[in-house]
Amino acid sequence: MDIQSNAVIVVVGAGAMGAGVAQVAAMAGHPVRVIDRDGAALARGRASVEAGLASLARRGSLPAADQAAVVERIVWTTDLAQASDAALAIEAIVERLDVKAALFAQLAAVTSPAAILASNTSSLSIQALAAAVPHPERFLGLHFFNPVPAMKLVEVIGAVATSPQVLEAASRLMRGWGKSAVAVRDVPGFIVNRVARPYYAEGFAALAEGAPAAAIDHALTAAGGFRMGPLALADLIGHDVNYAVASSVYEAYDGATRFRPQPAQQALVEAGRLGRKSGSGVYDYAGDLPAPDLVPAAPRPNLVIEARRLGELAPLAAAASDAGVALSFDVAFAPDILEVDGIRIAAGDGRSLASRTDADVLLDAARDWTTAKTLVMTAVDDHAAATAAGFVQAIGKNALQIADRPGLLVLRTLAQLANAAADAAGDEVASLDGIDQAMVLGANHPEGPLAWARRYGVQRLAAALTHIADETADPLYRPSPFLLAAATSTTQEMDHV
Ligand code: NAI
Repeated sequence: MDIQSNAVIVVVGAGAMGAGVAQVAAMAGHPVRVIDRDGAALARGRASVEAGLASLARRGSLPAADQAAVVERIVWTTDLAQASDAALAIEAIVERLDVKAALFAQLAAVTSPAAILASNTSSLSIQALAAAVPHPERFLGLHFFNPVPAMKLVEVIGAVATSPQVLEAASRLMRGWGKSAVAVRDVPGFIVNRVARPYYAEGFAALAEGAPAAAIDHALTAAGGFRMGPLALADLIGHDVNYAVASSVYEAYDGATRFRPQPAQQALVEAGRLGRKSGSGVYDYAGDLPAPDLVPAAPRPNLVIEARRLGELAPLAAAASDAGVALSFDVAFAPDILEVDGIRIAAGDGRSLASRTDADVLLDAARDWTTAKTLVMTAVDDHAAATAAGFVQAIGKNALQIADRPGLLVLRTLAQLANAAADAAGDEVASLDGIDQAMVLGANHPEGPLAWARRYGVQRLAAALTHIADETADPLYRPSPFLLAAATSTTQEMDHV
């Protein structure tokens, strides 16, 4: 079974998602019919597609001659009968089970029994929708991401009765449209809306403890390598939408701790501070956004001592040496500790600084020590902070000092994302590569959470999460059984569990 490139694609719903899907299908050469019950929505959808195509043409990504042809391939109509010759109909209407089910019954009545029917739902069960579809073997979920023309991911979700040929044909078609199709089991949140939850939750948890928003967002971008900090991103998405997703995933998983929504975000929703769209959210958009309070210029250190060149912090010591700071070795040192002018700096391992006797400063994780623009730290006192900051600045980076807490900011977030990904792997939501690919392409993460976990070390990660769970007394942080199995398996590779 194959859906040919000249087959008719029907999109129901001309909103942000439907218009985007129509544009992508028409650009791939299909005749497209967009159906919406609201004429004004059709006009808006059409205008947004035309603007999208014009912008692609301006950037040289679409030959000007093709622009008009793509526009002409799309018919905009309120008449559902126009769906009659659909090879594939994709539904992108209001997110309500009863309304979607009624639409699928109508679509089934006007299309051929061989037409593939798909829903773009973010939160409803594909199985529940399949119940409304005659011949459910041709029904599946095709979950696109916003904005559809730019986002490469499509989660492809089968219901119990969906035929493997339909899933394969739909996946091939998505690849033909330039998308990456990832096969996902029908679970609440699928991959991205489930595994991404800790990114926001950790941001709001730190905010509720009193960490400045600008520090949280700066830590996750400059050291964590994310494109946007969690709070700025939630402001962009809108707290009503983001909190509703958090709550719906939490409820769908019967209140499983890992999906607990954050009261700090709920408070914003209740106060009407919905984010950029309402003028304020975590940040106030009326004025300039706050800058993180970086440690001011501190004296350059004289001497760095490390165990040997193999420890995790060795690249930092080598960079200091390159910058002209004297470097010496002491085999008595633990591998993850540096001494800078008598101040002991350790890489955080999930324990708080208060619970360690072997360090004066803890460095938070960085996705990449060498390229991180800022290193995040907590220190026992001002002298230790200034000494560590002088070291960090000597190697050309900014220092950001935060309050001591288990797992600090970046490690805790990366560890919880990996933990959520491991839960999803354990629940067989998708393949390990599929989970990583979805997080990179659907959530714009710079690296898959499981790829990071492998680089960090699965045993180290399980230990770090255990430390955080113990010190916070919060089961939210308990390592996933899948992660523990991987950490104790003889191969020590998550792929082999
Ligand atoms: P939207 O509100 O922008 O557009 C929905 C459109 O459907 C409206 O134009 C409305 O007039 C039309 N509509 C509603 N009921 C209809 C019916 N019975 N028959 C015909 N047309 C009808 O919504 P949006 O954001 O485009 O979302 C659509 C679907 O895609 C929802 O299921 C949503 O959960 C899902 N989705 C949304 C994403 C997003 O970021 N906005 C991302 C991925 C999925």
